[in-house]
Amino acid sequence: MSVVPWVPTPSIVIDYLLHALGVGENDVVADLGCGDGRVLLEFCKYGALGICVELNRTLCNIVEIAAKTMNVRDRIKIYCTDFFTMDFRRVVPRPTIVYLFLYPSTLEQLSHKLETEFDPGTIVVTLDFAVRGWSPFFVKSLVDENDHDRLVWFYAIGISNPSARKIECVNQDELNSIERNLCSRKFSFY
Ligand SMILES: C[S@@+](CC[C@H](N)C(=O)[O-])C[C@H]1O[C@@H](n2cnc3c(N)ncnc32)[C@H](O)[C@@H]1O
Repeated sequence: MSVVPWVPTPSIVIDYLLHALGVGENDVVADLGCGDGRVLLEFCKYGALGICVELNRTLCNIVEIAAKTMNVRDRIKIYCTDFFTMDFRRVVPRPTIVYLFLYPSTLEQLSHKLETEFDPGTIVVTLDFAVRGWSPFFVKSLVDENDHDRLVWFYAIGISNPSARKIECVNQDELNSIERNLCSRKFSFY
């Protein structure tokens, strides 16, 4: 399995996400492979809870120090581990947003785990690379500070994976959960 190296998300993407998703204190944001935590730390400043999962111990330590410096240490949980070995069904409070800046092959390997371990309606955001076979409900193109084109993909658990769509099924709880998570959110795509 190829290990995704640390490449940070550009600040223009973080600013866009904060605005587009209307991130606030009702959000629990999980970054699988959170690097130095820059995405989550910024979200925490807006009141969200952050769940950082990172394999690299040095980066985990950096997240910890930065969280203390920014006074958000109590708003971020740091799991210094391989996200493939985590059981996200046990994570409480439940994530409302999952952020992924990973290789396409890693996204593909993760897709079943995302579908089965996160709640219906959870928003999944990927940077640059799509989740193969899933249908995004929105895609944003941005130009970063180095003049590179970047793509941000927005998906929702229970809707975006055609082979696991819950929308036609009769489970009213899951439908209610999707509706609550998506319809109550003040998206502000621009
Ligand atoms: C492209 S970087 C993205 C960093 C951060 N999410 C951001 O956007 O700034 C990918 C990160 O995932 C971490 N990573 C790769 N495979 C992982 C795994 N199986 N479990 C946990 N972290 C992993 C790497 O160490 C690296 O920090």
